Amino acid sequence: MEAAKSIAMVGGDGEFSYQRMGVLQAHAIRSLKPLIAEAVKHMILPKQGPLHLADFGCSTGKNSICYMNFIVKCITDRYVEAGENNGHVTCMPEMLVSFNDLPGNDFNTLIQLLASDAKNAKDLATSINGADVGRASSYFSAMVGGSFYNRLLPKESIHLAISIFCLHWMSQVPATVTDKSSPLYNKGRSWILGGNPTIAREFAQQSMLDLDNFLDSRAAEMVPGGIVFAAVISRHDAANPENQVNPECHHRFVFGPDFENAWNDLIDDGVITTETRDTFNLPTYARSKEEVEAAIIKCGAFDIQYLQSPVDDNLCPDDELMDMLQYPKSFATFVSAWARAMSGPSIEAHMGRHNTDELFIRYQRRITAHATSLLSDPKAQQEYKIFRTTLLLVVLKRKVFSTSSNQ
Ligand SMILES: C[S@@+](CC[C@H](N)C(=O)[O-])C[C@H]1O[C@@H](n2cnc3c(N)ncnc32)[C@H](O)[C@@H]1O
Repeated sequence: MEAAKSIAMVGGDGEFSYQRMGVLQAHAIRSLKPLIAEAVKHMILPKQGPLHLADFGCSTGKNSICYMNFIVKCITDRYVEAGENNGHVTCMPEMLVSFNDLPGNDFNTLIQLLASDAKNAKDLATSINGADVGRASSYFSAMVGGSFYNRLLPKESIHLAISIFCLHWMSQVPATVTDKSSPLYNKGRSWILGGNPTIAREFAQQSMLDLDNFLDSRAAEMVPGGIVFAAVISRHDAANPENQVNPECHHRFVFGPDFENAWNDLIDDGVITTETRDTFNLPTYARSKEEVEAAIIKCGAFDIQYLQSPVDDNLCPDDELMDMLQYPKSFATFVSAWARAMSGPSIEAHMGRHNTDELFIRYQRRITAHATSLLSDPKAQQEYKIFRTTLLLVVLKRKVFSTSSNQ
């Protein structure tokens, strides 16, 4: 399966939409803001416009617009400060934000959100320039449909790029793991978590190729001195790629045993064959810090401004999670909708809407049973951090002089 065609998040604003369920990913905004603000400080401010920002993997835009508004504000503050220090009137270049996602992404929802956000933004633009500049927003926007593993934007045109919660999506599942005749056929599973290490290494290889392509493409597109900020889903166990999350956390991972068992239930109930499950693989891979660092060094076009060990980030405050766990059924409905907002499109592309509905009904049942079993065990409840994610934060600066293979 060529994953890139089918992994855009669920569009619209319905029950399983990313627009609604991305509320969890939105929690990360708070913890990412300080580093984003710091990254903006390292930007070289152009004197002439357009100042070009890009979000690679914007989805339907709720979170993306939040990030971009924050970045525009940080940049604006820098121009105002620079003007004040020089005793000059602030001369802001016009800004352009390119919102990128896969062609299957629901860009219409994003465009509508941008339109309703424009009023606030217009106020900002007016107050900065002292007069209505005749723009509907403090920045112009463009939608760019295509895979970020390819070149998407003109050479040396982007001043700051972000990519948040995206780079774990692979361009494709390695063909060897879905080929029945291959020794690496991923039999009995829908993903690599806790599975065969050799199969997980196939995922690692594909994911390295993808990251090389991402970095080479951005190396060509960034202006010299341009900044890339990426928040990448990561893992702690560098040596063992099958430990996409630490083994002691498998049981409470959103795509952990409850997810695999829901697939088993679907097979046991005769809804799908084992082959239907075995030929599906979740097209995601969490890289270690070492893998990311090696790719950056191999690319050679960027200086690393920030790269520390992966950190665990709670996408839901502990007290809210504890409250939710008191109501296992509604908790399970929420978890299932979240899992589906992310993985639903790739599963539907593989086995259709009906079977996907059936899978998530079983997943919901599994989560309900799991949450119910925790009710009598407050300690286990506290340890059940299903919304915890591991993030690697990366800030790169495009070298001023370098040779990139993709230029
Ligand atoms: C979990 S969402 C993150 C959205 C947003 N950045 C946020 O923080 O809420 C991941 C997004 O990455 C996009 N994506 C995955 N692979 C992609 C690719 N190869 N090219 C462009 N976008 C991709 C998906 O379509 C999806 O919208």
